[in-house]
Amino acid sequence: MEKILITGKIHPSAIQQFKSLKSYQVIYEPDVRRERLEDLISDCLVIVTRSETKLDNKLIDRAQKLKIIARAAVGVSNIDIDYATEKGILVINTPGKNTNSAAEHTMGLMLSMMRKIPQAFIKMKSGGWDRHLFSGFELKDKCIGLLGLGNVGHRVAKFAKGFDMQVYAYDPYIAPKLFTRHGVVPSQSPYDLASQVSILSCHVPLNKETKGMIDRKVLEKLPEGSYIVNTSRGGVVNENDLLKELDKGKILGCAFDTWEDEPLPKRELVEHPLVWCSPHIGASTLEAQKKIGQTIFEQVHKALGGGVVDFPVNLPQVTSIDNPYIVPYATLAEKIGTAISQIRSFNPTSLEISYRGDLVNVDKGLIKLGLMKGYVNFSSNAYVSYVNASSHFKTLGLELLESDIHLDKEEKSAMLISLKGDKGDLLKIGGIVYDQKYMRLTTINDFYFDIKPTGTFLIIENEDQPGVIGDIGSQLASSKININSFDLSRREQGGDALAIIQIDTLVGRKNLEDLKKVNHIKSVKQIVL
Ligand code: 3PG
Repeated sequence: MEKILITGKIHPSAIQQFKSLKSYQVIYEPDVRRERLEDLISDCLVIVTRSETKLDNKLIDRAQKLKIIARAAVGVSNIDIDYATEKGILVINTPGKNTNSAAEHTMGLMLSMMRKIPQAFIKMKSGGWDRHLFSGFELKDKCIGLLGLGNVGHRVAKFAKGFDMQVYAYDPYIAPKLFTRHGVVPSQSPYDLASQVSILSCHVPLNKETKGMIDRKVLEKLPEGSYIVNTSRGGVVNENDLLKELDKGKILGCAFDTWEDEPLPKRELVEHPLVWCSPHIGASTLEAQKKIGQTIFEQVHKALGGGVVDFPVNLPQVTSIDNPYIVPYATLAEKIGTAISQIRSFNPTSLEISYRGDLVNVDKGLIKLGLMKGYVNFSSNAYVSYVNASSHFKTLGLELLESDIHLDKEEKSAMLISLKGDKGDLLKIGGIVYDQKYMRLTTINDFYFDIKPTGTFLIIENEDQPGVIGDIGSQLASSKININSFDLSRREQGGDALAIIQIDTLVGRKNLEDLKKVNHIKSVKQIVL
């Protein structure tokens, strides 16, 4: 049985759903230690993680069967994405599901810090009162600066406006009209932002650009009496620089949910009297976890079924990922690519995909990926997925061409894929999708068919002569091969014909050779789709 390993605490309903998948064994170890993880992951097909599981290249190398990394939240800085991509492992996440929780936690930390609520709580629990110690500041009329105005950032902007704060943001990736829509004043740089506000709040992912973005130089721009909040990712704020700045007394407090070193953050920082802390719990609410659990299950289930997922992290850029019209054509292109690579008998120089009907006008990125994946799958020993299909395809040195077929009369959408060699060799397979779900192979080298492309097939070129069908049937019967369906197409009586025979089991090499010796048979290929 294939294994699904879950290494973070996810909602019980999601665990139940995973367990209901009969052909998979689910291993749930939310507090797994690294050494055990290295063992466990070696034969898992899927890993579902939260932020505490570090999927570095060493761990990925141990995971010989791993096909899917499912990140049950948004941030993927705990995963070596480039390495996973090279290995063809699909990485998926669940964007948007914990946005509100993270934004609310930001406001909670901000209020806790500025009103000293945790200190007052501890004092009172231990029998004290001393309310003069817990005088703080209002949020009203303060200027808050958001580093990042994405999902969480703009939600925090909304909440901050509810507190009558003035909101500034630095986000070079957002269109100016979005700043206007959220009532946010744009800043030109992190320095600019720091000099305009007294509360700086981080809402960016951790990547090459944002690592250490809030460093000494930015911190020095903050005015006297400022605050810093970080609920995004540890590492966005340079913690060593921050410690030095905190000691200078200009900053009144910083509230962190995320830390450079999790789960063992710098004690010096955690214990600093001006630091308010929580252990990366921004997404830890019932509401967020229910949504994340449901989404991650649905995504993994889709991916296991060979479907295209809605939230891929490392698929090449394709815009049609959730388009119900395009997705089945991508799957069909994959099938045709697989068929062509098994049927071909010459060294190809180019693979061309031609579109007809409405297909001419859609974004074909996903369809091309499907074709490359299908074609490469049979010619490579490596694991090939939508994730690494194009890089594997490039290594074959084949040109990938595209063209449109324009006909005078209105025609149904269809595609034709042609493999060409430099000595005039040509292999063409056409296909169509009915009602957005029923895939069919409709032509092979101008012979017409109506074949559902799933299963094991024999493709037999023969001369159109009496008795050929019977001889093929007898030969297969003598090899104990059961025929599921038999389709024969010919261009003219007595000319060349092509048979596509769906069989229940694979034909062995010797039996294939015997079949080739049958009278009037010119070639035999066995393919699996
Ligand atoms: C995220 O990346 O979405 C948050 O940091 C939450 O991640 P976690 O719940 O896995 O810690």
